[in-house]
Amino acid sequence: SIAERVADLLERMTLPEKVGQMMQLDSREDLDDHVLRKHVGSILHTSPERVVRAHELTARTRLRVPLLVAEDCIHGHSFHEGATIFPTQLGMAATWDPDLVERVARATAVEVAATGVHWTFSPVLCISRDLRWGRVDETFGEDPVLIGELASAMVRGYQGDGLTDPTAILATAKHFAGYSETQGGRDASEADLSRRKLRSWFLPPFERVAREGCRTFMLGYQTTDGVPITVNSWLLDEVLRGEWGYTGTLVTDWDNVGRMVWEQRVQPDYAHAAAAAVRAGNDMIMTTPGFFEGALQAVELGLLTEADLDRAVARILALKFELGLFEDPRHPDAGRQRAVINHPDHAALNLEVARRSLVLLRNGGVLPLEGGAAAGSTPRRVAVVGPLADDAQTQLGDWAGSSGQADWLPDGQPREMITTVLDGLRDLVPAGWEVVHARGADILALAPDPEGDTFPDGQPRPQVVVPCPPDEALIAEAVAAARDADYVVAVVGDRIELVGEGRSTATLDLIGGQIALLDALAATGTPLVVVLLASKPLVLPPSALGAAALLWVANPGMKGGRAIAEVLLGLVEPSGRLPISFARHVGQQPTYYNQVRGQHGGRYADHTQDPAFAFGEGLSYTEVEYTDLRVETPVLGPDDHLRATVTLRNAGARPARETVQVYVSDTVTSASWADRELKAFRQVDLAPGETATVRLDLPVADCTIVDARGRRVVEPGEFVLLVGPSSRDAALRRAGFTVKSPA
Ligand code: IFM
Repeated sequence: SIAERVADLLERMTLPEKVGQMMQLDSREDLDDHVLRKHVGSILHTSPERVVRAHELTARTRLRVPLLVAEDCIHGHSFHEGATIFPTQLGMAATWDPDLVERVARATAVEVAATGVHWTFSPVLCISRDLRWGRVDETFGEDPVLIGELASAMVRGYQGDGLTDPTAILATAKHFAGYSETQGGRDASEADLSRRKLRSWFLPPFERVAREGCRTFMLGYQTTDGVPITVNSWLLDEVLRGEWGYTGTLVTDWDNVGRMVWEQRVQPDYAHAAAAAVRAGNDMIMTTPGFFEGALQAVELGLLTEADLDRAVARILALKFELGLFEDPRHPDAGRQRAVINHPDHAALNLEVARRSLVLLRNGGVLPLEGGAAAGSTPRRVAVVGPLADDAQTQLGDWAGSSGQADWLPDGQPREMITTVLDGLRDLVPAGWEVVHARGADILALAPDPEGDTFPDGQPRPQVVVPCPPDEALIAEAVAAARDADYVVAVVGDRIELVGEGRSTATLDLIGGQIALLDALAATGTPLVVVLLASKPLVLPPSALGAAALLWVANPGMKGGRAIAEVLLGLVEPSGRLPISFARHVGQQPTYYNQVRGQHGGRYADHTQDPAFAFGEGLSYTEVEYTDLRVETPVLGPDDHLRATVTLRNAGARPARETVQVYVSDTVTSASWADRELKAFRQVDLAPGETATVRLDLPVADCTIVDARGRRVVEPGEFVLLVGPSSRDAALRRAGFTVKSPA
């Protein structure tokens, strides 16, 4: 059995071999030294050539323990030229479709596995509450239930039918837990969450994937209650491994162990840091070269026992045996890569997800553009303007080849594989229509670092990106194009340099020359369609909020431009729904919908707290009416199921894919709680004029709160079931029900 093989191998390993097994090193480190002398157990951020070399070196070591190869493939294979790059996780979340997300993860796993990678650091289960945070795009948004559903689908897709399948890769639930709850939105700052708050919102999605078999968890960078998560034994031992019975592997984030010494300064040296991390239950130590000597010293000093190390090493070896790496280390396979990388099925899936990820936020009737692609429509001229209309790189988003996230990535995906909005419209407008293009504005420029020309050690500081001022000549050119056109499509948003780890933003504005451009375009009187290509919700100016139409597209991946053109032209119905709220002002942060009750009227003296667009919102090219919400049995016990029906009618002339959202409000709770929470959702296709009765079935056991003692409980009493197309009050139908105390 695997347990016997692990025990046998452990017995034959020396102490340094065990310590090395726990180390994961990136491509900057000297491979020969680390494999041959330190026996490292894993590598990350690598290339097929380096993987082959690493396996060759491993084969020369005494015990020939195979390496685990890891990568951040979070919306496709981020590090492989030509691989399919899907919409970002936030874009995928807008589909509200677990099946689609599972298929994306499966396709990704097939491509990733062919390149010799065994392990992806995905999905992200962080809850995005502060939109200034730089990693909102990597998340599934703001709701724990939506996150749990989609993350669990993603894990299934990656891990496939079992780890022995050569196309299965290990999934990672990250960043455990509460990493996103930053101060001021700043990345990796202190996340001072109470245990009750963690249990209320931040832990449930992790619990779900832990129980469903996600094989690895990654810890965040942050400290909570004064304790870096890396050594938070309450979270790791008591909750994760204890309560949830998690038997998988834990990996730290980048140099978490070193950071306790040089950054957080809560450990005096690497020996103490290594000992604390191992004793708290960490298995794989990411990119801390000093862990090797530190851990050996810790054993010498009696801070750590060999048995402590054995527990961690056993978990790593078990993964390697389960993957079958001792028999076949899964070398990169050039033939398989040719066969599967961006396979036509994956490209088709990518287009499908991109279409489904687009969220129509406003439509004053201009969309679909008149006549669409219908034969015989009057010839039209469309001006396609804006700094992102033809920006292939930003369209892909972070973690996609060459990105704002990391300079050490290859040069990105081949331009010809990417369809920008300009390409998409040029390809798809009906014969006789004309597409003209003008950039209109820039977003960023390079400037000297305001903190000085050199670092304290005299090294020159690189230039930094700053918003660039409006360029009157560019605006004039775009205005002229708009004046001569029947429609103007302006593609605006944020640039890749403003997104990612360590790249939080102080504002949520459309920066650079973009607001001036939109204002000038709006003044032309030509119907203005704003395509917001933004990694996360931004604060929009009146010219965008009041435009003829507004479509949020996140970072829609390689096929994004085509999908957007199809929706603008009415070849495809818009069906995305917001997985996250849009603020009206940066000072409103946070704007998430499920805030706890009790805020003195819930508004600022000088500003509303109402979001610009609320969680769950999104329009179609038709109207769907909700009527007759009926609860079958309105008095229930805690073990019963709430059964209800609601009638939907497509009252328009175009087909609809409607996302029916089911919320529950517990009217009186023993501890402060959200006024409503998403509990379930269903997607329903409705032909024009069609009526359907949707059946809902919700376990009463899901209608919980977390009480003041931190226990998740159903509190008997009055509840309201709310069903509709978004979290907005006005949109929801209501029906009461009562939960009795247990007999
Ligand atoms: O997986 C990532 C993590 O999300 C942030 N820090 C670096 C890791 C490895 O690239």
